[in-house]
Amino acid sequence: MLKPKVLVTRRWPAAVEAKLAEDFDAVLNTSDRPLSEEEIRDALTRYDAVLPTVTDKVSAKAMDVAKPQARILANYGVGYSHIDLASVANHGMTVTNTPDVLSECTADIAMTLLLMAARRAGEGERELRVGGWTGWRPTHLVGTKVSGKTLGIVGFGRIGQEMARRAHHGFGMKILVQNRSQVVPDVLAQVKAEQVENLDQLMPECDFISLHCPGGAGNRHLINTRMLNLMKPGAFLINTARGEVIDEQALCQALMFDTIGGAGLDVFEGEPRINPCLLQCENLVMLPHLGSATREAREAMGFRVLDNLSDFFAGRAPRDKVA
Ligand code: DGY
Repeated sequence: MLKPKVLVTRRWPAAVEAKLAEDFDAVLNTSDRPLSEEEIRDALTRYDAVLPTVTDKVSAKAMDVAKPQARILANYGVGYSHIDLASVANHGMTVTNTPDVLSECTADIAMTLLLMAARRAGEGERELRVGGWTGWRPTHLVGTKVSGKTLGIVGFGRIGQEMARRAHHGFGMKILVQNRSQVVPDVLAQVKAEQVENLDQLMPECDFISLHCPGGAGNRHLINTRMLNLMKPGAFLINTARGEVIDEQALCQALMFDTIGGAGLDVFEGEPRINPCLLQCENLVMLPHLGSATREAREAMGFRVLDNLSDFFAGRAPRDKVA
C-alpha cells in the first residue's frame, strides 16, 4: 500500500524525523528555511499532509487553492493561530496540534522570565559581560521579591495551570485567574486560586501578570495602553503565549516611563523581527521563543504529531483534532 505523502516544513528532532521517514513518504526540510506562503500553497496541492509550525503562515492566501490534495495540517506546536481556520473549514480539512507535552517546559520558561525580570537578572548579566561590575554593594541592582506576591494568570489552560502550580507551591504566591469560561472549582482549589470576572478586575490586583491565552485576531492587543495603566506601579508582565496579545508600542511606553516594573517576553508580534523600541528597555527580559525548547518536549511534540497522523490515515479520529 502506498504511504501517505507528508511534508515537514522545518527540521525536527532526529528521532522523530527517522520515524516519520519510516512510516510515511516524508519530505524533510533539510535546509530548515521557513516556507513562503507560495511554497505552502504549492505543498497543499502535492502532499497528503502538511506538517507546519508557528513559523509557517498558513493564511487564507496560502490556502487559496481550488482543490488541495492535503487533507490534514498536523501542526507541530500547541498554538495554531498561524493557520486560517475559515479556509480550513472551506476545504473540509483537519487540523491537529500538540498539547500537554510542552505545558511544563513552557511554564518553566514563564517562571524563568518572571524571576529574571523581578530580580534584574538580564541587567546583571549584561553588566558583568561588558566588564561593568564594580563589586557588591547594598544598593546594586535591587529587584523585587517574588515569594508570597500575587500572580494573575490570563488563560487557565494546561500551561496556565502549570504556571500556577510552580508559583503557588514553589513560591507561595497567591493566584488570581482570568479565563474565558468558568474554571472547575477543583482545578482552582489545587492552587488555592480565585477566578475573577475580567481583566479590568485582574490587572490592578496583581504584582505579576502572566499571559497563557491563545493568540489570533480575537486576542490581538488584549494588553493595550488601558490594560497596562490598570497594572500596579512596579508590577511585571510576562508573555509566553503569542506576541500579538500585547500592543508592543504601548508596552514600550509603559517600560520607558516606568509605569510598570518590568516585563519578560518569549514571543513577539512579527517575530523574529523585534520592535526596536523594546531593545531600548533595560527593564525587559527577552528570549527567542524558547517555551517548548527542551529535548524532551520537542521530541514528545514530534511523536504526538506522528500519533495524530497515524490515527488520521487509519481512519480514526486524531486525539488532538482542533478543526
Ligand atoms: C507552541 O507550541 O505553540 C509553541 O509556541 C511553538 O509554536
